[in-house]
Amino acid sequence: MCGIIGYIGHRQTQDVLLEGLSRLEYRGYDSAGLALHTGAEVMTQRAVGNLAMLRRSIGEEWSGGDMVATATAGATAGIAHTRWATHGGVTEENTHPHADCDGRIHIVLNGIIENHSALRAGLELEGCTFTSDTDAEPIAHLIERHLTAVDDLYEAVRRTTLELEGHYAIVVLDREHPQTLIAARKECPLVIGLGTGETFVASAAAAFRAFTDRTVVVGDGQLAVITPSGVSLSEASTALSMPVRVQRIGWVADDVEKGSYATFMRKEIDDQPAAFGATLAHHTGESGGFALGDAEPVLAAARRIVIVACGTSYHAGLLGRHLLHGWAHLPASVEIASEWRYSEPALERGDVVVAISQSGETRDTLAALRLAGESGVPTVAITNVEGSQICEHADAVLLTHAGPEIGVAATKTFTTQTALLAAIAARLAANRGMLNPRMRRNLAAQLRAIPDLMAETVIRSEPVAADLGERWSQAGFFFYIARNLGLPVALEGALKMKEISYVPSDAYAAGEMKHGPIALLSAATPTIAVAVGTPVVDKLASNVAEVKTRGAHVLAIASEDDPRMLEYADETIFVPALDWRLQPILAVVPLQLLALETAERRGLNVDQPRNLAKTVTVE
Ligand code: F6R
Repeated sequence: MCGIIGYIGHRQTQDVLLEGLSRLEYRGYDSAGLALHTGAEVMTQRAVGNLAMLRRSIGEEWSGGDMVATATAGATAGIAHTRWATHGGVTEENTHPHADCDGRIHIVLNGIIENHSALRAGLELEGCTFTSDTDAEPIAHLIERHLTAVDDLYEAVRRTTLELEGHYAIVVLDREHPQTLIAARKECPLVIGLGTGETFVASAAAAFRAFTDRTVVVGDGQLAVITPSGVSLSEASTALSMPVRVQRIGWVADDVEKGSYATFMRKEIDDQPAAFGATLAHHTGESGGFALGDAEPVLAAARRIVIVACGTSYHAGLLGRHLLHGWAHLPASVEIASEWRYSEPALERGDVVVAISQSGETRDTLAALRLAGESGVPTVAITNVEGSQICEHADAVLLTHAGPEIGVAATKTFTTQTALLAAIAARLAANRGMLNPRMRRNLAAQLRAIPDLMAETVIRSEPVAADLGERWSQAGFFFYIARNLGLPVALEGALKMKEISYVPSDAYAAGEMKHGPIALLSAATPTIAVAVGTPVVDKLASNVAEVKTRGAHVLAIASEDDPRMLEYADETIFVPALDWRLQPILAVVPLQLLALETAERRGLNVDQPRNLAKTVTVE
C-alpha cells in the first residue's frame, strides 16, 4: 500500500506535499517522491528511505546542498507519493512520481495494475522508453499515447483508465495544464479536500486535515478534475457527470499528531478509553439504550451471524461471537476473510454477514462482503473509516469512533470494535428477551465504566510491562494461553508481539496445550496467561501449573477480585473488576504495552515495523 497526495492552490506546494506525506507515511515508507509544477516546468525529486531522506535530497539538489528542504518558490501544483514497494525493488528509479517519455505527464499510483506487463510490452513496441520496473509507469505512457490522438487531458486519462486492470488510485500532473490535476479511482481510497482557492486530493483525509475539513469522496470508478476552485466528478466508463457531495470531517488535525508521545502506538494505547467511550456514545439512543441505526433491523432479523475479518479485526470478531452467544443466545461464527471467500461458504436464509475492517479497504474482507451480497444475504460493515469502500458495499454501516489510527499496529481500533460488538450483542440480547431490565441496565453500566477502568489498567500495567519488556527483550519465543473470551485477547497479544517485536509467538487455548505445544516450553519461554474472560479460572490455573513444571516464567493477567493466580504465576497484572465477559477488553491493554516495551528494548521502531504497512491485504 502507498500514500498519494496532490495539491493545487496558493500555498507553498512543496511544504503542503511534504506535510501531507508525513501524515501518510503509515501507508508506506520505503521511498518517497514529489513532482512540482512551477508554472513553467515540472521538477521531480525522489529518494529511497523515509521522508527524511526525501527532505534531505530536496535540500541537496534544490537548495544548494544545505541538506535541509527549503520550499521551492513558485510551484502552483504538485503530486507526491510515499511508497511500499510491490512491483520493482526499492530503488530511486522505481520511486514515484513516474513520467512519460517527454517528461510532460507525471503520475502517482496507489494500488496494483494487474495487466502492467502486457501494457508495457505494447507500449515498448510503439517505441516508449521505460525507466522503472513498476506497474505504475505504463500509466504515464498510456496517457501520453492517448494525448497524441485526442489532445484532451481529461479524455486521455479517461481512456487510459479503461485499459487498466486491477485496483488503483492515480493522480496525474500535466506540464501543459498547470491549473489542473486529474485523479482516478478504482477500489482504492481517494478523497478530495476543498479549501478557499485551493484543492487537495489524497489517499486519506489525514493528509490535508490541517488545512481543511471539507471533503468529497471520489466514488468507485470515477474521475476527478481538480482545480484551485474545486472538483468535478464523472463516471470513467461513460464520462457522465456525477454529483459532488461535500462532507465535514469530525476529527481535528491534532488527532494525527503524536504530541509529546515517542510513538503513535503509545499514543493510541492511551487514546483507547476516549475512543471506546466515543464509540459507545455514538450508538446510544435517546432512551439511554444501545441504538444500531440502519443496522438494527438487519441484525434483528438474523438467525445466524457470520463475522468475516482479517488480523486484529478477526480477533475482535472472535470476542464478539462469544458475546453474541453468551448474552443474545444467537448462533454466530467468525471467519478469516481470506479463507472464507474461497471456501464455498454455505449461507442460508436468515444469515447476516458482518464484515469488520478498521480501514474499510482490506481486499479480502471486501471480497467476502461482496460474496455475501451476491448470495443475497444481508450485510453489515463495521469500520473506522467513513466513506471507505466497505461502506459502499454493505446494506448498513456501523462506525467505530477511534479517530485516525496512524500506528501500524492496531490498538484503539481493536478496542472500539469490541465496544461496538458488545453494543450489538447487548441490543440483540434485549430484543430477544434474554435480559431483564435490571440485567440490561447493569450491562450498559459495566460497558460505560470501561473507559475509566481502561485508563486505570494502563497505569497499573505500564511499570510491569516496562520491567518485563527489559528482562524479556532477548527472549526467542513468547507463549500465550487463555480460555474462552480470554483467547481472542491472547491471540491479539501474540500478534502484536510478532508484528512489532519480531519475536515468534503463539497463542493457544490453554486446554489444547497438552496436545502438542507444551513441547515448546522451557525456562527460556516467557508465558502469558490471560486469566480473565473464562468461568473456569481454576482450569487455567492448572494449565499455568503445567507451564511452571517446564520452568517457564509466567505473567498472569488476572481480575483484581481473584487472587488465585498469585499462587501460580511469577508476575501478575491485576485488571479492575468487571463483568467477566467484558474483562478481556481491559486485559488486552497490558499485552499491547508488553509488545511495545519489548520492541523498544530491542531498538525497534514500533510505528514502522518491517514488511508491514497499514491495512489492505493485497491478493
Ligand atoms: C495488526 C493489524 C492487522 C489488521 C488487518 C486488518 O496490528 O493492524 O492485522 O488488523 O490487516 O485490517 P483492517 O481491520 O483494516 O481490515
